[in-house]
Amino acid sequence: MSIATTQQQIAFFGATGGCTNACLVHTLNAGFHATTLARTPSKLTSMLLAQGLAQSTLDSQLTIVKGDISDISAIKSVLTNNSATFQVASQIISGIGGAPKIQKSLRRPVTVDNPEICATATKNIVQALQEIYEAQPSTAQHKPSITVISSTGISDVKEDVPFGFRTLYHVGLATPHKDKKEMERLVLENSGAGGAFCGAVIVRPSLLTGDQSVKGGKGWGKLKVGREEEPAVGYTVHRADVGEWIFEKVVKAGDCGESFFGQKVTLTTLEFDLFQSEIAKIA
Ligand SMILES: NC(=O)c1ccc[n+]([C@@H]2O[C@H](COP(=O)([O-])OP(=O)(O)OC[C@H]3O[C@@H](n4cnc5c(N)ncnc54)[C@H](OP(=O)(O)O)[C@@H]3O)[C@@H](O)[C@H]2O)c1
Repeated sequence: MSIATTQQQIAFFGATGGCTNACLVHTLNAGFHATTLARTPSKLTSMLLAQGLAQSTLDSQLTIVKGDISDISAIKSVLTNNSATFQVASQIISGIGGAPKIQKSLRRPVTVDNPEICATATKNIVQALQEIYEAQPSTAQHKPSITVISSTGISDVKEDVPFGFRTLYHVGLATPHKDKKEMERLVLENSGAGGAFCGAVIVRPSLLTGDQSVKGGKGWGKLKVGREEEPAVGYTVHRADVGEWIFEKVVKAGDCGESFFGQKVTLTTLEFDLFQSEIAKIA
């Protein structure tokens, strides 16, 4: 397994999304080198500069590959940092997701512009890695870990959605959740011996609030953290805190997230009882 040092490359997908952007900001501030796919590179650059990163930091530590997640060649460039020597990233962080779309349906009021985006992204990252390993077999000795951002509300093991949100999650969000479930299956199936990844960390945040601004969250230390068998059940979590948790526990950890490999980590801030009392204060 690869050990993360600031000299190694971290590959990001979906870094114009709030959680992943916050994670990237912490990653660059800590001196790591990153490569990221972006459909609109100027959007990503503006987001990073607005968070206080210097242009010189972006120039020296960040490579942006313009492209779509359907483009295997662009994904390969991200994973190898455009290098002819095929140095593969030590870690992959993906927060790819579709844009919500409201539709005229009582059963499925919320869908996304691309209902299979998360599964497709995973399949394409796996294919890109396999092509890299085939072209240069020595690269398979140091496979990257992958961390994906999934969702609560898809567990077959234990209910992790508070009572008040269950209709929204289990009925309204069924379409994006089917995609998240398939993504989780694919990352686990392709992890470990013989797989494309050395291991996988699945992050399941509750309803996301706020944006990417690392100054806007409550801080990763305030998060309630659970796992599938014992989920932390709460209503909301700030995007910046999710990104910071991934940075602290995976990117910076030194073991590429190994202590969470195979886990489905639930992240939330407000536990059910606390949320009730917050509502009571307002009412
Ligand atoms: N909303 C919630 O309450 C909630 C709850 C739990 C989990 N989640 C999931 O958590 C993840 C992170 O959410 P977020 O709000 O931080 O980010 P987000 O706004 O959902 O960001 C999605 C990212 O995916 C990228 N993307 C979409 N289609 C792409 C394509 N075809 N090729 C390349 N990139 C593509 C977007 O790039 P562009 O900027 O180019 O569009 C953006 O960077 C998502 O998967 C989301 O579904 C959401």
